[in-house]
Amino acid sequence: MTADIIDGKIFSARVREKAGKQVAMLQADHGLTPGLAVVLVGDDPASRVYVRNKGIATTEAGMKSEEIRLETTATEAEVMEVVHRLNADPTIHGILVQLPLPEQVDEMAVLDAIDPLKDVDGFHVINTGRQAVGLPAMVPCTPLGCLIVLKETLGDLSGLEAVVVGRSNIVGKPMASLLLAQNCTVTIAHSRTRDLAGVCRRADILVAAVGRPEMIRGDWIKPGATVIDVGINRIPKEDGKTRLVGDVCFPEAMDVAGAITPVPGGVGLMTVACLLANTITAACRQAGIAEPEV
Ligand SMILES: NC(=O)c1ccc[n+]([C@@H]2O[C@H](COP(=O)([O-])OP(=O)(O)OC[C@H]3O[C@@H](n4cnc5c(N)ncnc54)[C@H](OP(=O)(O)O)[C@@H]3O)[C@@H](O)[C@H]2O)c1
Repeated sequence: MTADIIDGKIFSARVREKAGKQVAMLQADHGLTPGLAVVLVGDDPASRVYVRNKGIATTEAGMKSEEIRLETTATEAEVMEVVHRLNADPTIHGILVQLPLPEQVDEMAVLDAIDPLKDVDGFHVINTGRQAVGLPAMVPCTPLGCLIVLKETLGDLSGLEAVVVGRSNIVGKPMASLLLAQNCTVTIAHSRTRDLAGVCRRADILVAAVGRPEMIRGDWIKPGATVIDVGINRIPKEDGKTRLVGDVCFPEAMDVAGAITPVPGGVGLMTVACLLANTITAACRQAGIAEPEV
């Protein structure tokens, strides 16, 4: 068997195009331009690239984009001051504080200070709780992107066995919760899981969010399963340069899986696209307008 490759470029382009059309409609019908503010503290090179890409995507979709940069030495009070200002700004509907933050700044305290209605990253405990009990919430962008890809690839997910490897608050747990809401039978695996390979082999849907290069081997995958590889790992090449790989051993998985997301070019691209969708959802909720479907 050779797996179908789930091309993140195609899926993310669709979400971004839809976002652009929805922004144009909100402007024409309601005079509303969704606004996204991204706060970057420090000069971590990877974070700088992420923030720049988010700004470009936001502007391309016709939204207002604001980028706030603070020095690596910024105090928690300075970061909080920015968050409070953005909470009060009616032209800003989404606030994203790029993680990680420098060690002198308490990440949880900052995330908690973001107005839950503007929490487009979906990391606020109010949104986590609302999602867990099935109320409308802001859903973290990466798992939301994975769910969109899964639904478009498989259709109805009801009754499928889903295994999520990884239990982080930003990927694993919300992913499992979203799959449960789709009526999958969900298992969350982690570093203490016994017989991880055996657990993975049960999965019709296998989501890997671990951060360990190529950990999931071909013989851990049920023939025909749909594999979503969230991992982004940089490994050395023979020529001294580096390359990106996922948490799944892609060449081995290609021989077993029914469909698989590559790394790069898979679900990673959906994260920024879903950030746009979340900002539109947030803007509609704040303006009391019926929100468009993602
Ligand atoms: N845009 C994107 O595509 C995107 C967004 C976010 C993250 N990522 C990538 O996704 C990966 C995971 O990110 P994260 O933030 O969720 O990571 P994380 O917070 O470090 O969580 C990793 C999870 O993997 C589990 N784990 C670690 N080693 C394991 C092992 N040997 N066997 C089974 N489980 C193991 C850990 O278990 P314990 O809880 O037991 O320690 C933990 O729950 C990373 O590669 C990250 O770069 C991509």
